[in-house]
Amino acid sequence: MDLFTFTLQTGEVSVAFSPEPSVTAFGPEGGIYVVDKHTEPLLRRCAGFDPKAPLVSLEPGEDHKSLDSIQKILTAALDASLGRDSLFIGFGGGVITDMAAFAASLYMRGARLELVPTTLLSMVDAAIGGKTGIDFGNAKNCVGTFYPASLIRVSVSYLASLSEAEFRSGLAEVMKTALLYAPKLFQIMQERREHILSRDPDLMLEVVKRCVQAKARVVERDLKESGERMYLNLGHTFGHALESVAGFGRVSHGDAVAWGIGRALNLGLRLGITDPEYLTDVLPVLESYGWCTAPVHPALSGGDRSRELLAAMKNDKKKKGGAVRFILQREMNSTLAQTVSDEDVLAVLS
Ligand code: GLY
Repeated sequence: MDLFTFTLQTGEVSVAFSPEPSVTAFGPEGGIYVVDKHTEPLLRRCAGFDPKAPLVSLEPGEDHKSLDSIQKILTAALDASLGRDSLFIGFGGGVITDMAAFAASLYMRGARLELVPTTLLSMVDAAIGGKTGIDFGNAKNCVGTFYPASLIRVSVSYLASLSEAEFRSGLAEVMKTALLYAPKLFQIMQERREHILSRDPDLMLEVVKRCVQAKARVVERDLKESGERMYLNLGHTFGHALESVAGFGRVSHGDAVAWGIGRALNLGLRLGITDPEYLTDVLPVLESYGWCTAPVHPALSGGDRSRELLAAMKNDKKKKGGAVRFILQREMNSTLAQTVSDEDVLAVLS
């Protein structure tokens, strides 16, 4: 097994990379598995799985990222008489890892936590860095805690079973990480597209490792998003607005984020911040993965929707002092956050 370790203000985090999927066997203090109906069969085949241990299998999907699901997990833990020294294992995509971690952070004021991300997005982003949470009211992830797992087990063997949309959602986060922190990763995405799209296990292991290492460095410096961590939202302000205006589910998260990256770079260009040559390098790579780089995304129909997009951005939870701060780039590895006039935002949307 290949181990990467980083240190947060809350303690040490280990990321274990192994070809064979596995989970930690529960000790005498016991533990609980949190899965959804899709990941439960994968867990049951994992080395270390204990069929007699408590298991909560939730309905899959964002609609179930709710207090009701957290209540189910906490109730099952209490019914099994688990203590604070018991181990919560969250096994699934970002929805499951966020919820298992949230429940672990609440149970007895903080149980032990292991995460096993099974999607590309959760391997490179959601499971790394301690954000936990649920959706509440109409707002995504607006109730939660910072509670890093002490162990994250990564096996890229899970990637083979992902749907195209799920895989591409993760790839957009890989692209984001590359542009923010990892020129070598950008080069890999540029030069080895066929191998990436065919999910070559060796190459994907390298890609995931590079993303985990880059994100670990960010959260070591800024776990609670008081500064630099907000850069990880590159492309997300535009992307979330697109998902919301097009209607959730009509455009995948990854396609929306990738489009958002293109819009953010164009906004930077308009403001005289982004180097034109950088844009010329990045846009063809986005396009080569089939991502839209046009101002108007094809998921939007019915005339000029730019004002609706702007209104959706103003509802974004990442506002600071009531204003939306856009993540912009001068070039690769050189990022900033700033407020932008409505006029400039509208100009890159039509
Ligand atoms: N997914 C963004 C972050 O972890 O901060």
